[in-house]
Amino acid sequence: MSNIFEYAPAPESRAIVDIKPSYGLFIDGEFVDGTGKAFKTINPATEEVLAEVAEASDADVDAAVKAARRAYTRVWSRMSGAERAKYLYRIARIIQERGRELAVLESIDNGKPIKESRDVDIPVVAAHFFYYAGWADKLEHSGYGSTPLGVAGQIIPWNFPLLMLAWKIAPALACGNTVVLKPAETTPLTALLFAEICQQADLPPGVVNIVTGAGETGRAIVSHPDVDKVAFTGSTDVGKAIARAVAGTDKKVTLELGGKAANIVFDDAPLDQAIEGIVNGIFFNQGHVCCAGSRLLVQESVADEVMERLKRRMATLRVGDPLDKNTDVGAINSAEQLAKIRELSDIGEAEGAERWSAPCELPSNGYWFAPTVFTGVSQAHRIAREEIFGPVLSVLTFRTPSEAIEKANNTPFGLSAGVWTDKGSRILSMANRLRAGVVWANTFNKFDPTSPFGGYKESGYGREGGRHGLEGYLKGEDS
Ligand code: NAI
Ligand code: MG
Repeated sequence: MSNIFEYAPAPESRAIVDIKPSYGLFIDGEFVDGTGKAFKTINPATEEVLAEVAEASDADVDAAVKAARRAYTRVWSRMSGAERAKYLYRIARIIQERGRELAVLESIDNGKPIKESRDVDIPVVAAHFFYYAGWADKLEHSGYGSTPLGVAGQIIPWNFPLLMLAWKIAPALACGNTVVLKPAETTPLTALLFAEICQQADLPPGVVNIVTGAGETGRAIVSHPDVDKVAFTGSTDVGKAIARAVAGTDKKVTLELGGKAANIVFDDAPLDQAIEGIVNGIFFNQGHVCCAGSRLLVQESVADEVMERLKRRMATLRVGDPLDKNTDVGAINSAEQLAKIRELSDIGEAEGAERWSAPCELPSNGYWFAPTVFTGVSQAHRIAREEIFGPVLSVLTFRTPSEAIEKANNTPFGLSAGVWTDKGSRILSMANRLRAGVVWANTFNKFDPTSPFGGYKESGYGREGGRHGLEGYLKGEDS
């Protein structure tokens, strides 16, 4: 079956971005050659090599931390909050002005659809800088004091490259810290463009340093003795390793790790909206979302109807060229991630769940996975327990609210959940009983800088966003 809606291709031009053949590291306000090796970043939709990027060595990380320390001591921590805010507002405005360029580059390097990078990632990035700019001169009202920590080492993943950078850098700078940030090895390019934006904004040298590289570079940041704070988003395994590495030091840590969110649909829910919420919950960003609604819990009395409507809707999803404005689902970020999604999906089938994939043609080059749903899933199945981090939904059913709560909370994670029902009182009682840092009601994947985000249990600790997001970058009331 071919897609029931046919459109002419409507690709966004990539002429707006200027990708250089090679990139150095951004240290002390300048791009410098790394002293180590280099690696390639590719476009996962085509496997085209985009650029060579420096892999920061221990010595490079040390130079970046030294630059951050100098900038902290001599400039940034001495500046008034109102002065710091001017830089953050300037960065926010430049992000808006260069929004199209950032969105196109993000889609090329990451594989996400342009309609998401353009309408979600980049606007929320700008909103985070505007929001935290507003806090910079009001920290005495934060409840966490107004004394910064010093140098923050920040390590981010590849699923929302620039958005995770904004979540880390905006509150850190607003509070008076300086940063050394490492983007993920498959998506370094928008962080390097952000470095140019720092230059354009005349940010004092050393306040923001961007060091590219993989796990070794991350480890060098975490273990550097002159880093005061480590902020990490990524896998639970690496999060645990980081928690072990900083145990017994004075370093402050925040960890934002995995999830296996339940998206709970009651029989009184407005089903058309719920279907859109299920689709958005798991297929947004190819399912590369820590808070993705990867477990659908549907009330038994409407399960058949929901599945029928869901499959019909999934058959209309357009999978393909991330730069095409009609595309709903883009490329899987890397060959490694595709292998993981395939492996867990095969295990789901072997364990006896029933697999259905949307009938779509996938491009021959690049990394692709058709939107997929598993029914007949039981709690013990690995596809119900482990983070797949791809466009794969596991469906379980329930009869009563208590059974839904029991199943939703039966996971090592605790990041997010969704509740779909017509009854306001049920939303409140469910939200109180769900062990999740974020609970969405009759919506999903809504991100706003004013709202704190973070998890319980193996989903990590600390909050990002909102007033709570300042806590991880300040010394506290009585210091
Ligand atoms: P990862 O945790 O290895 O990578 C995240 C970041 O940590 C990257 O910048 C990476 O270079 C860095 N890193 C890796 N090892 C490190 C170490 N020992 N010390 C310091 N930094 C280190 O995640 P990966 O391998 O890219 O993805 C594996 C799985 O993790 C995914 O399939 C998904 O389930 C989960 N994940 C969760 C994310 C989230 O948003 N919570 C984001 C990305 C992945
Ligand atoms: Mg890439």
